[in-house]
Amino acid sequence: MDKYVIRGGNPLVGTIRVSGAKNSALPCMAAAILTEDEVILENIPQVRDIETERRLLASMGAEVELGTGESGHRTTLCCRTLSDPEAKYEIVKTMRASSLVLGPLVARAGMARVAMPGGCAIGGRPIDMHIKGLEKMGATITQAHGYLEARADRLRGAHLVFSKITVTGTEDLLMAAVLAQGETLMENCACEPEVTDLAALLTAMGAKILGAGTPTIRVLGVDRLHGAHYRINPDRIEAGTFLIAGAITGGDLIVANCNATHLGAVIAKLREAGVRIDILGPDTVRVRPGNRLRAADISTEEYPGFPTDMQAQYMALATQAEGVSVVTENIFENRFMHVQELVRMGADIKVDGRVATVRGATRLSATAVMCSDLRASASLVLAALVADGESILDRVYHMDRGYERIEEKLAGVGAQIKRMGNIFASKDEVAAV
Ligand code: EPU
Repeated sequence: MDKYVIRGGNPLVGTIRVSGAKNSALPCMAAAILTEDEVILENIPQVRDIETERRLLASMGAEVELGTGESGHRTTLCCRTLSDPEAKYEIVKTMRASSLVLGPLVARAGMARVAMPGGCAIGGRPIDMHIKGLEKMGATITQAHGYLEARADRLRGAHLVFSKITVTGTEDLLMAAVLAQGETLMENCACEPEVTDLAALLTAMGAKILGAGTPTIRVLGVDRLHGAHYRINPDRIEAGTFLIAGAITGGDLIVANCNATHLGAVIAKLREAGVRIDILGPDTVRVRPGNRLRAADISTEEYPGFPTDMQAQYMALATQAEGVSVVTENIFENRFMHVQELVRMGADIKVDGRVATVRGATRLSATAVMCSDLRASASLVLAALVADGESILDRVYHMDRGYERIEEKLAGVGAQIKRMGNIFASKDEVAAV
């Protein structure tokens, strides 16, 4: 199992490039199910979750070509044949976003068999709203042996009101609605840029969608969709992680290929914490030392609020800020797995329910730490970049799910970070995980 060895203390200087958004790429790949034609997606990040989605679609009979070399970020999908419209547990258990195939499969193939995702490191993560929405659109849903089976000759438009804002729930039902008979009105939708990205692809495929990116989306179902060639937006969470990497190391970093308009809440909070940020252009943001880092509270919210996917990384920064920062996690019930590892590095953090109180500034000292989920791993990388000495991060496969070659990108701007395969891992340790 690979580990990172990181020696802290180097300010990051130079230009670092952001890859395409994993959380846009996943629903956009699922959208290819909706047509017999070829869908070509550009700016697909080379991360583990994308490979998992390729395997998922291929297991259903789709042809998915992930580019290599020069065309490494282009993916060509063709779902002409869907011989086996099923998402097997072996794949769903490794990637919860697999449930994104539910809506498109019922819409296109008239049936779907999808393994029920269990809980995960950050919380329960049910899919009840996906199920209720499809039922309202006329699907019959049964559950047995850990699988959910949905059937409908043709889905029909419906009035759907989400009881809670859900990103993949909005995306899944949007994909169901585009081929449904008649009009679907969706209320209390997620407004995340990833939903807008998906809607733009669907529109390029011939779908009729109004209001994506707002809480109310109106869809006029069409009989068929055609192929499209579409470029995925930059990953706003990777960009935010790099802004914090620049800030925490006191560096001078240009974050390129990003979309500055998607980073509003993160940039505002970093400025409040004393970081100097200049927006150099629509896709380029510079971070450099401003005043001394000072405490600033965050409270995670749906877009355009402060993203839950940046909470762990922000907490690493808060350990270096003067004063008390209160971090409230409102989206997931158990997203503080990074706290104990940060505390092992010397951070002063107390957790009470959904609230973590961080007292700074503390000197972090390098040690061996364990990654528990994607964003928790990013938080530990950031802490290690500023810690005194050499840290060893275990289980970096979590990082590989969503960050493309981050060690190469960070090393390119001066970080001392190396990936090591299997260091210190005994056969027992490998087998135990
Ligand atoms: N929820 C329900 N019922 C549902 C669906 C969701 O109760 O049917 C609850 C969840 O338990 C949670 C809240 O609603 O408390 C929000 O969950 P949401 O459905 O929005 O999360 P998601 O769609 O499963 C996506 C991202 C996550 C990101 C969240 C929140 C993808 C593939 N994943 O998850 O990304 O944290 O939205 O913004 O888009 C990550 O990239 O590290 C990651 C976890």
